[in-house]
Amino acid sequence: MGRFRHLISIDDLSKDDIIYILDRAEEFEDIAFGKKKSNILEGKILANLFFEPSTRTRMSFETAMKRLGGDVINMTAQEASSIAKGETLADTVRVISKYVDVIVIRHPLEGSARFVAEHSDVPVINAGDGAGQHPTQTLLDLYTIRKESRLEGLKIALMGDLKYSRTVHSLIKALTLFNAKIYLISPESLRLPDEFLEDLKGDIETANLNDVIGDIDVLYVTRIQKERFPDEEEYKKVAGSYKITADILKNAKEDLIVMHPLPRVDEIDVSVDRTKHAKYFEQAFYGVPVRMAILCEVLL
Ligand code: NCD
Repeated sequence: MGRFRHLISIDDLSKDDIIYILDRAEEFEDIAFGKKKSNILEGKILANLFFEPSTRTRMSFETAMKRLGGDVINMTAQEASSIAKGETLADTVRVISKYVDVIVIRHPLEGSARFVAEHSDVPVINAGDGAGQHPTQTLLDLYTIRKESRLEGLKIALMGDLKYSRTVHSLIKALTLFNAKIYLISPESLRLPDEFLEDLKGDIETANLNDVIGDIDVLYVTRIQKERFPDEEEYKKVAGSYKITADILKNAKEDLIVMHPLPRVDEIDVSVDRTKHAKYFEQAFYGVPVRMAILCEVLL
């Protein structure tokens, strides 16, 4: 039995658990790159239940599982929509958890992953519940920060849609465990919700990018989460309101890293890709070893 059975929120993990997963992920890097082989998860099956689009998260779970000798079944979009029409999510999960050894779920409703875990016979991993949590993304974000920058004593700016980005909601909680100095940068209407801020006991303040760009170690950018806006008109008011360019980064520290959970829309200009600061594609790769470590923790 591992340190945790399900992974629903980053709050389910202690700082010690987080460091343990990051250390384990290091050990899986060669296997993730395909340089070394492993069959450690042979005979295990993962079910991907995605009720929202996903490319990186779903495919990196699949890659992680297969490179460790395990197998994967995917629910198709058509199946997801027929579930939405008829069968309850609870019944779906009761059945699928009898077929497989672990369930990965992404769903538009906040709290859905916790609900699914209550009805599952097998471990459940939350791959994003609405604007709620995305704990596996947080672990790979922390892994990226530790590898490409430093975790302790970090100065980080979280920029973009802080209201609806679940990647930010998860990451910010973990960062407070590592005593990070956190700057929040967003359009007024996409600020981190106040009630969220009240729960956080850390060194957090709102800022302008120009004021902090020369001082931060990490710039973490998110796209505007268009699908979470109750009203398209509200989205149009903020669409395209911020963009990182190579020019803006001229005032940055030498070793600043720019991260993004991807997909990007227009918030990071392609001119940034060629700078030494861009780490978002490495970040996407680190999803594989980190998810290997998480899968081994819940399956072995
Ligand atoms: C993120 C998500 O789904 O929350 N994507 C991801 O998992 N890498 C970020 C996003 O969709 O903007």
